[in-house]
Amino acid sequence: MCYNLPMSKMAVLLSAVAVVGSVEMACAAEAAGQHPAAEPAPRCRNGAIWYDTDGHVVNAHGGGVLAHDGKYYLYGEHKVYGKFGNRAHVGVHMYSSADLATWKDEGVVLGVENDPASDIADGCVIERPKIAYNAKTGKFVMYFHLERRGRGYSDARVGIAVADAATGPYKFVRSLNPTPGTYPVNAREEDRTPEALERSKREFRVPLGSSEEGRKALIYPAHVERGQDSRDMTLFVDDDGKAYLVHSSESNSTLHIDELTDDYLGFTGRWWRAAEKDWTEAPAICKKGGWYYLVGSGCTGWAPNKARYYRARAVTGPWERVGNPCEGVNPANGLGPERTWGGQSNYILKVSEDRYVAMFDIWRPANQVDSRLVWLPVVFGDGEIAIRWQDSW
Ligand code: GAL
Repeated sequence: MCYNLPMSKMAVLLSAVAVVGSVEMACAAEAAGQHPAAEPAPRCRNGAIWYDTDGHVVNAHGGGVLAHDGKYYLYGEHKVYGKFGNRAHVGVHMYSSADLATWKDEGVVLGVENDPASDIADGCVIERPKIAYNAKTGKFVMYFHLERRGRGYSDARVGIAVADAATGPYKFVRSLNPTPGTYPVNAREEDRTPEALERSKREFRVPLGSSEEGRKALIYPAHVERGQDSRDMTLFVDDDGKAYLVHSSESNSTLHIDELTDDYLGFTGRWWRAAEKDWTEAPAICKKGGWYYLVGSGCTGWAPNKARYYRARAVTGPWERVGNPCEGVNPANGLGPERTWGGQSNYILKVSEDRYVAMFDIWRPANQVDSRLVWLPVVFGDGEIAIRWQDSW
């Protein structure tokens, strides 16, 4: 493996452990009749181990694919062996491809830092990185869910990094709770009152999953001053070049859609609440035929649950919940639409006007380096979508 950024000795050690894990997995794959990358896989094999052009296991989870200048760049969380791998010890790993099936290792494009005071210190949580190209500035901007080291999942921040080239290196800019000092554009009038703020300060501490207490609580006004919670997230760039951060907020009960500044490096302060108290995580967005579609999961941590999708005529909403887009069964684990084939939504890539690919992760929280990718074509109707299981395509 080659890395673009210097890493701490610890991270090198851990990625060596990850490679040993990869070798073990490769052997298991061979025993199961899959030959490890004697030749690059010409197809997308769902739920199987994917190998890069060096024969190493592709290690990029919860991320996405950037299409730029005729090439594709797959990026995601570099996971290491064991439960330890649920924290970031390496950073964001990237691969490039011309055909979405053959992946060349481009190294770690954003590395965790040795300085324990850094926001992205080794041992923090870096999840669901997403990259958007800004045509005005010519820069590549990365957003990711960040929990600074030692704070569990209580920080709920978004991290921002920027690069001059798709393959980085990405320079960490800052982290924050988004949109401090502002109320949503679609706020109810009564939510803006001093009484609402007092109520919210009493009620905002609710569990992260769905609960009756959470359903009744007024959560976001208490965070107006500091900025809002931001956990699972995605970036969406609309046809007019405006970009949005879409993230699970309010203890994961409600989505927030935040408009970014023209350079994508910050927030305009205009934001909208959506899917209120629907507990949607893992948002992934695409647009086709005048409809915006948002695919997400329910809120059960790493455990798979039933996907849902929403549609809207504008990315800022209003979003209408439609149903579960998933169909078919993953024969490897027997799981179908009720458990999203064992996976969780992650990103939707527009390949061309007619071809969109929905991306999912099958998480293995006891050993996330062994998590698997599932990529499937999106089938469109008028205002409806379906995503059908295929072993490979
Ligand atoms: C999931 C989320 C993941 C990760 C995990 C931690 O619901 O989608 O990105 O945050 O929870 O438990």
